Amino acid sequence: MIRPADDCYLAAAAPVAYPARSRMRNFPRLTPEEAARVICHGDMVAFSGFTPAGAAKAVPRALAEYARAEHDAGRDFKVRVLTGASTGASLDDALANADAISWRAPYQSSGPLRKQVNSGLVEFVDMHLSHVPQMVLFGFLGKVDVAVVEASEVTRDGRVYLTTSIGASPTFLQAAEKVILEVNSHQSARLSDMADIVTPKPPPFRPGLDLDHPLERIGKSYVMIDPKKIIGIVETDEPDELGGMAPADEVSDAIAGHVVEFLHRELASGRLPADFLPLQSGVGNVANAVMQGIGSHPEIPDFMMYSEVLQSAPFELLRSGRLRGASTCALTLLPEQMETLLEEIDELSPRLVLRPQEISNNPGVVRQLGVIAMNTALEVDIYGHVNSTHVCGRKMMNGIGGSGDFARNAYLSIFVCPSAVKGGRISTITPMCSHVDHSEHSVNVIVTEHGYADLRGLAPTERARTIIDHCAHPAYRDYLHRYQRTASSGHIRHNFSRCFELHENLERYGWMLPELAAEADGAGQPAAANAAAS
Ligand code: COA
Repeated sequence: MIRPADDCYLAAAAPVAYPARSRMRNFPRLTPEEAARVICHGDMVAFSGFTPAGAAKAVPRALAEYARAEHDAGRDFKVRVLTGASTGASLDDALANADAISWRAPYQSSGPLRKQVNSGLVEFVDMHLSHVPQMVLFGFLGKVDVAVVEASEVTRDGRVYLTTSIGASPTFLQAAEKVILEVNSHQSARLSDMADIVTPKPPPFRPGLDLDHPLERIGKSYVMIDPKKIIGIVETDEPDELGGMAPADEVSDAIAGHVVEFLHRELASGRLPADFLPLQSGVGNVANAVMQGIGSHPEIPDFMMYSEVLQSAPFELLRSGRLRGASTCALTLLPEQMETLLEEIDELSPRLVLRPQEISNNPGVVRQLGVIAMNTALEVDIYGHVNSTHVCGRKMMNGIGGSGDFARNAYLSIFVCPSAVKGGRISTITPMCSHVDHSEHSVNVIVTEHGYADLRGLAPTERARTIIDHCAHPAYRDYLHRYQRTASSGHIRHNFSRCFELHENLERYGWMLPELAAEADGAGQPAAANAAAS
């Protein structure tokens, strides 16, 4: 297949004369407290933010304080909160700590909020991220009363320039009755050099997206809204609230090594084109470490990304040239990396495109570009179903995020995870997933630190053997094989009285296989784990 050279897209994206933008002097200036007062008990509030990147900060903090004051005065005050994805501490943590959230969608990764979701205090709706804008626009989630969106600038005719994420903000700005902008002078106006914002027309007259390359630009660098909806501007000056990533360790290095081994085999066999296909990489520590590993392996050619987040490891690969360019929805970078990005923006911005989440995660584009999706699982069952969200089927971790948007439509869908967590107490490979986010039909390859299971073309019994032998922790392999062998026959073998035995054991004894506890060393590692590692 002849693929267009990256060059023509880089040239198209070269910064043109930077448009003169004048902030509209006559938008009312509000303090965060004044802005918070605009929001009423029961309102649906849509905040910008896709990860902490570009999340609203000052207004949600003030809203949390206002909620506390209302509660102290004996009045109810809770709002329904929509965002692009997860956010920073000033938003989810602050509002959850103030008991100010009644309903939340579509994704979160906040400790305090997670507790409230799992104790039933907050209703949480876990959604595919690509669905959010359309559901909001068509009113599936109810009316959006107020949008609070971080911007670098706004012009008098209503052009809003977003910052480090695009997320669902274009739709929130369009759908909300009232708009409050946090104009953050800490965020460079040059960030919008990377923005490519397009809002698809509603069906049935929605044309296909004309996107042939991860760096192709098809939209505008700003969102245009009716300026009459902007009830005020809150001026701020603060960075995104990004935490650090856990450094790669032996397990994540081994996982990365097996991903590389698999991809290399695909290249060598001609099932992947020699100049490779765009990669998507999920969120979290494991995904970040895997990207770092892939970048350091010379067997993998320089590559592109079509993803929803650009985390710290791929950013370094972008600078070194291993990553030729990336389409993303958010720049989830460390503070020092943000500084570097701005210092090197003339060189880097043509190689980065920031898109709304319904484009960055668009199933049609993922299929069209032939994206290789790599997402992290909490749990995988022996037949290849994946749980990305609910620990033991009950406790919400973060949410499905964009993993389903990519996994279901990818050229190759890879799921990675350690084979065991919590010192070996929990096997991530189980007989039956306690919750299914991705069915076997969306999962091609499973990778743990022990190896990879290529499930393509395998029927259930063979899938089970492959997953257990190549991916399960050695201490759990006998149990899993025995379960599969002794389960009732059928196309898929299962034993209804034992399929959740490991989960029940965990709840009852603190170990999925209690006999391993007795063998565990001081660090809590089961003996078989030590043997496997040595
Ligand atoms: N049971 C219980 N806990 C488990 C578990 C399991 N089966 N698997 C992992 N965990 C725990 C880990 O022990 C860790 O706990 P800790 O914070 O107390 O140390 C925590 O989950 C996170 O695991 P970690 O190994 O640090 O992984 P991560 O940061 O890579 O996150 C997911 C993994 C699955 C939580 C994260 O990738 C996620 O939310 N995915 C769903 C959304 C998604 O895939 N989005 C990407 C689309 S682009």
